[in-house]
Amino acid sequence: SQIKEVEFVKSSAKARDCPKDDRPEIAILGRSNVGKSSLINCLVRKKEVALTSKKPGKTQLINHFLVNKSWYIVDLPGYGFAKASDAAKTDWSAFTKGYFLNRDTLVCVLLLIDASVPPQKIDLDCANWLGRNNVPMTFVFTKCDKMKAAKGKRPDENIKAFQQIIRENFKVHPPWILTSSVSGLGRDELLLHMSQLRNY
Ligand code: GTP
Ligand code: MG
Repeated sequence: SQIKEVEFVKSSAKARDCPKDDRPEIAILGRSNVGKSSLINCLVRKKEVALTSKKPGKTQLINHFLVNKSWYIVDLPGYGFAKASDAAKTDWSAFTKGYFLNRDTLVCVLLLIDASVPPQKIDLDCANWLGRNNVPMTFVFTKCDKMKAAKGKRPDENIKAFQQIIRENFKVHPPWILTSSVSGLGRDELLLHMSQLRNY
């Protein structure tokens, strides 16, 4: 399940511009700044494959990375970027939703959830939208290495609270994995999970 080779293929501004290909793909989605690009870099063990930045809203396109010449990791624009213009926000939902609903080769969405903050409404809305539209998802909790914030709760408490809400909203709780791009926690588990997803 290891990643030996990764090749950037293209950035697409629209769902219909994505590579025409029948190889399976796994998309990475989450709030702006949740750690999507860092997680991809951690999985790949290369810095700067997906551009990371402290400035939220850096990834604005659908980015396809071909892994081991056999499947794609797709880095999607973050949602909930407060400073994005209204036009940019509308754009996000239109084209990202189009991608989820029309991409036949999409096997699963990894929905990244920041474990260093309490459950966020926008993440729950996103999970509910994916669930309603029958898009398979796995929750990937990020930043599990973070000790509690100034007056916040610990990652394990935030995760528990999030899962409790999911249990109330879903008939079947999607799978979840705890990760940290800093310590490498969950890296092997996530790679194994992704290889299982592709082989269904
Ligand atoms: P956008 O592309 O803007 O949507 O952001 P993103 O989700 O790709 O986030 P990115 O990977 O750029 O990380 C955002 C910030 O969080 C950076 O400052 C990272 O260093 C930090 N970060 C990401 N993952 C972790 C983690 O596992 N632990 C800690 N402590 N910090 C992290
Ligand atoms: Mg990014």
